[in-house]
Amino acid sequence: MCGIIGINSYKPVSVSIINSLKKLEYRGYDSAGIATLSSGLINEVKSEGRVDKLEKNSLVQGMEGTIGIGHVRWATHGLPNSVNAHPHSSQNVSVVHNGIIENSTLLKKLLVSKGHKFKSQTDTEVIVHLITEHLKTYDIVSSIQKTLKSLHGSFALGIIFKDQPDLIVGARRGSPLAVGYGPNENYLGSDSYALKSMTNKITYLDDGEFCIIKKDYVEFFNEEGIKINKKVLELSSDEEKYDKGDYKHFMAKEIEEQPITLKNGIKEYIDNSNNDVNIYNFPWKVNEISSISLIGCGTAYHSCLMAKYWFEQLTSLDVNVDIASEFRYRKNRFKKETLYIFVSQSGETADTYAALDLCKKNGMKTCAVVNVIESSIARDSEFVLPIHCGTEIGVASTKAFLNQILILYILCLKLGLLRKDIKKDVFTQKLKDLNNLPKLAEQTLLIDNKIQTVSNTFNKAKGSMFLGRGFSYPIALEGALKLKELSYIHAEGYPAGEMKHGPLALIEEGMPVVVLAPRDSYYKKTISNMQEVIARGAKVLLITNKSKDEVVSENIWETLEVESTNEDLLPFLLTIPLQKLAYYSALKKGFDIDKPRNLAKSVTVE
Ligand code: G6P
Repeated sequence: MCGIIGINSYKPVSVSIINSLKKLEYRGYDSAGIATLSSGLINEVKSEGRVDKLEKNSLVQGMEGTIGIGHVRWATHGLPNSVNAHPHSSQNVSVVHNGIIENSTLLKKLLVSKGHKFKSQTDTEVIVHLITEHLKTYDIVSSIQKTLKSLHGSFALGIIFKDQPDLIVGARRGSPLAVGYGPNENYLGSDSYALKSMTNKITYLDDGEFCIIKKDYVEFFNEEGIKINKKVLELSSDEEKYDKGDYKHFMAKEIEEQPITLKNGIKEYIDNSNNDVNIYNFPWKVNEISSISLIGCGTAYHSCLMAKYWFEQLTSLDVNVDIASEFRYRKNRFKKETLYIFVSQSGETADTYAALDLCKKNGMKTCAVVNVIESSIARDSEFVLPIHCGTEIGVASTKAFLNQILILYILCLKLGLLRKDIKKDVFTQKLKDLNNLPKLAEQTLLIDNKIQTVSNTFNKAKGSMFLGRGFSYPIALEGALKLKELSYIHAEGYPAGEMKHGPLALIEEGMPVVVLAPRDSYYKKTISNMQEVIARGAKVLLITNKSKDEVVSENIWETLEVESTNEDLLPFLLTIPLQKLAYYSALKKGFDIDKPRNLAKSVTVE
């Protein structure tokens, strides 16, 4: 994934580069680096670990230069150490890269045979040497164009040159890249978020394009090296202030914010005075859609799966769900009457974007459910449904998950009503229940002490299972994902009814198992499955909803009760204790909750 930044200014740039890198850390935090040009030399400082560590390096503190590039890395080729950290430089050229060069091994062989010496294990270094080689014969534009042509794979690049004190090159194929315009300085960045403190005037590069950023102007080129004009977009200038407040971690804050973010989502889409859902400018007639295909990765994929249960239950639409990295390479049978919905918090996930691109190339109807509305997926989809949950910083998604499923549920209700699958009075009642959801989420958040206590057992376990049926099954998957992401404890989400077909063999004395059994249509079946794991020695943490009827079962280790609502909405409430369970388990283990090892918030490589 990685984040890149470039600044060409009349003033020293190192402090601004470091500040922008801090904003880009959600893209990777294995290592970081900066290169500036000063006194006709490329100065490069790199370090393993976080931007904070780089910032403290005495070489960075005194760093001069009014033009420079910076990088935060999520390792693909080579260990996350300071040698493999970007920028990578030859005597003449310094490069930062986000993406993967698939033919790097071949290119490296060729370059080595021409006498180039490599220092790192990265794929990126071939770019440095290719440019250096071409510069022996060609000018900058031709050298860049020829280099880009020989690269296979994906890239967003920032490049500076020893002999060019007023020039940064940016180039894009696959990985996102934005150009920003400031007073007497111009910028390059992986996204507008990194540039927002400096400018709200942005141009996004499209695939195959590159640009030359000077202090006072920017030139754009297509793949053939021919100059092109690009639009300057003016984004909202209010920079969202986002800090941890009194919380120890962003994740804790984001969990607690959920009643508010749900409320915001509801306010944006529900018209209470007319008992209706407002989805303005929906580009298709309802009879043009007979099926829905939902596509995402990670937590967003779980949102898709959740939506499948609702769409199937409440509408007559056929529903298909796919993990984007599978969808993009499968032989898909594209159908005109299918609406393809891409769910992504960041709107930049490489596989989800590639799936969208594939659908567009096949002339399909495309809709994005995203949090970042300036993102590539939002920009390139025909229709966008923003989830309105505000910036999410914690790498493990929490509030974005609840708002993704909220918006998908609202869409499901609206399409169900329009298709006459849902009667108006049922629709009205469901909207009423939905309006009450933020309050119930708030009350459910009060379950806390018991979760802290049970998390001690999960901490010590070598593995755990999360079981659910029907509407609770996607939530079981999400609960298991949260625990593994944060606590590095093996956790498996499973359909409760499927346990006897294999996973039951994993159950041993004392193994903690979360059973999601709200009082819905699956309740009795799930309770039976729960007995089966208890009988084999599991320590069951039952999560159900409040009811006047007691749970009739023996030997349950612990029970948590979320608030009660209609069965469609119980998944929202069941999610909350699972998020907290993962949070507290990681907290007690002393792990970095907002930046779990090996992960990144925005996954811009496939
Ligand atoms: C990464 C994040 C996950 C996220 C997934 C998809 O793996 O760590 O939290 O669910 O990417 O990201 P997206 O931005 O497409 O929702």
